[in-house]
Amino acid sequence: MLFDERPKARREDLFDRVKEVSEVIDAIDKGRPIIVLSGIRRIGKTSVLLVALNEVNVDSVLIDCRALKENYGRRELYALFSTAFSSKLDKLRDVLKGIRGVSIMGNYVELKWSGRDYLSLTELFDKLNRRRLVIALDEAQRLRGPLANEVKDAIAHAYDYDRNLTFILTGSEVGLLHELLNVDDEESPLYGRYYHEVALGRFSVDESEEFLRRGFSELSISVGDDVVTSIAEYFDGIPGWLTLAGNVYAGTRDLSQVRETAIKIAMSEIENLIRVKERTSPIVARRYETVLRCIANGSNSWGRVLRCLEDEEGSTISSSVLHNIITNLEKLSIIKDYEFLDPIYREASKRLKG
Ligand SMILES: Nc1ncnc2c1ncn2[C@@H]1O[C@H](COP(=O)(O)OP(=O)(O)O)[C@@H](O)[C@H]1O
Ligand SMILES: [Mg+2]
Repeated sequence: MLFDERPKARREDLFDRVKEVSEVIDAIDKGRPIIVLSGIRRIGKTSVLLVALNEVNVDSVLIDCRALKENYGRRELYALFSTAFSSKLDKLRDVLKGIRGVSIMGNYVELKWSGRDYLSLTELFDKLNRRRLVIALDEAQRLRGPLANEVKDAIAHAYDYDRNLTFILTGSEVGLLHELLNVDDEESPLYGRYYHEVALGRFSVDESEEFLRRGFSELSISVGDDVVTSIAEYFDGIPGWLTLAGNVYAGTRDLSQVRETAIKIAMSEIENLIRVKERTSPIVARRYETVLRCIANGSNSWGRVLRCLEDEEGSTISSSVLHNIITNLEKLSIIKDYEFLDPIYREASKRLKG
């Protein structure tokens, strides 16, 4: 079902992405050490990843880094690995058995994250290397934080010594993901390592329309061409929004409801981001809101955003402060060249107070 809102895991539920899925499969088959799947939120990274993992003849574990808070600790990190291993225990039992610091209790895998028998990630990877394995880290930029270097050291070690392991990293916040990998920086653990990147782009208007028509026809409802065109144009080829729109339209037959629902979701995501900023500085958080609103309303250059922010605050603003905000919004893949990458984020940002 195309309009199923969960990430797709089977090829028959995935619209197109033939090229991207084969690229990932091909890179796995070639035994590449690191594959990166990048693209904005809702573009289909997890779906492409799951379909590829389903089709390759190699065991895999999927680690969902979205669960990590900003200042996560070793306990939280190892809990993710535990959960991932536990859900694949049928396939991995023999590899995990007998590793110091790993106990299998019923169908749960316990990992020693401190104390005696503590298992480092490097050791864990070395042991897992006994067999071919894909370790997928979904939304890997979340690994930033206090343990980032430990994780990167372990991946760098595996890159050099564990030829049986392939890491796949996905990331919506593309700038942050590249910064995490930081292969160009001599100081970085992953300096000089090569990774194969598959960047997911949006659907064309034609593809979006076909996606919607196919989805509606799976639900056996007939929908006029004008509606299909209007949804396709509004959501700018982002499959996650098209999926949501298809569902909401099927339920309400009301285009303004469709838009409103999407904008509310985007709004709550932006508010979460602002809330994170608030923890460090309420003033900076408010400036993020203002900058987003300025850009949403058409301030499309450095000078215009600065002017808009200064007008709003009735104050001169340090250019390094604004520079930081703009750079961060770019790293988060929210804006690029003073434009929103996601039109729904733009609509939501127009409503920010700031
Ligand atoms: N190619 C596709 N075909 C069908 N549905 C898709 C496709 N790409 C994404 N989706 C749907 O869009 C939503 C977001 O996809 P997901 O894979 O979670 O994106 P991401 O991981 O990039 O945020 C999900 O509901 C998913 O089912
Ligand atoms: Mg995802």
